[in-house]
Amino acid sequence: MSANIIAVINQKGGAGKTTLAMNLAAGLTQRGNTVVLDIDPQGSARQWASMGKGNFSTPVESMSETWDAQGLHQHYPAFRYIVLDCPPSLEKQATHQALQTCDIALIPVLPSPIDLWATLQLSQEIEEIKKTNPAMRAYLVINQLELNSALSAAMQDVLADFGIPVLNAMIRRRAAYRSAALEGVSVYQLGKRGMRAAEEIEAIINEVMPS
Ligand SMILES: Nc1ncnc2c1ncn2[C@@H]1O[C@H](COP(=O)(O)OP(=O)(O)OP(=O)(O)O)[C@@H](O)[C@H]1O
Ligand SMILES: [Mg+2]
Repeated sequence: MSANIIAVINQKGGAGKTTLAMNLAAGLTQRGNTVVLDIDPQGSARQWASMGKGNFSTPVESMSETWDAQGLHQHYPAFRYIVLDCPPSLEKQATHQALQTCDIALIPVLPSPIDLWATLQLSQEIEEIKKTNPAMRAYLVINQLELNSALSAAMQDVLADFGIPVLNAMIRRRAAYRSAALEGVSVYQLGKRGMRAAEEIEAIINEVMPS
């Protein structure tokens, strides 16, 4: 069986792509062999893993700008899940290729209208990609929701404009996500400190890939 390819995308910077990609990969590693491909020239995923001096649960590989999207399955036959951490850009060939090749696109968004407007362009791009990659499923993932608060009705209206489904599972703003990056591990490896965060990531995995 070929690997599931999950691309984490948003042309808006700082939406939480790397945070989601790294923790998602850690959660998927408990289900099967997983690799993170860092296709962002900023190299944040590689940097994160290097902070852990080998303790990060999942291998992270840097990809050159000319990575071979078509050849992913052949290059990584041993992996069940391939997670692509994409750059904050749509124009870059890297993101386009990631969308062309992925099974699932996860789009983290901050629960602020300004951030959402900046992401709107993505829905057109996804529609376009579906012509050549019709099996791809795309979801918005709310990130950095304030603790103990719900998504406002106004935000729900803005989200409805996207035409891309929003996952019920959301990510709250938690110190654990920052600590994990600083310590070069995933929230799963933070013990009690990361428990709530790990539960959120599990809920995302179960919603997009029910087993
Ligand atoms: N749920 C969260 N709770 C707390 N901090 C968070 C959360 N999600 C992300 N952050 C922090 O927000 C910042 C931006 O996150 P991240 O680097 O994952 O975004 P990105 O979309 O990958 O950015 P870029 O577009 O530059 O690649 C980081 O400092 C990260 O630690
Ligand atoms: Mg990033």
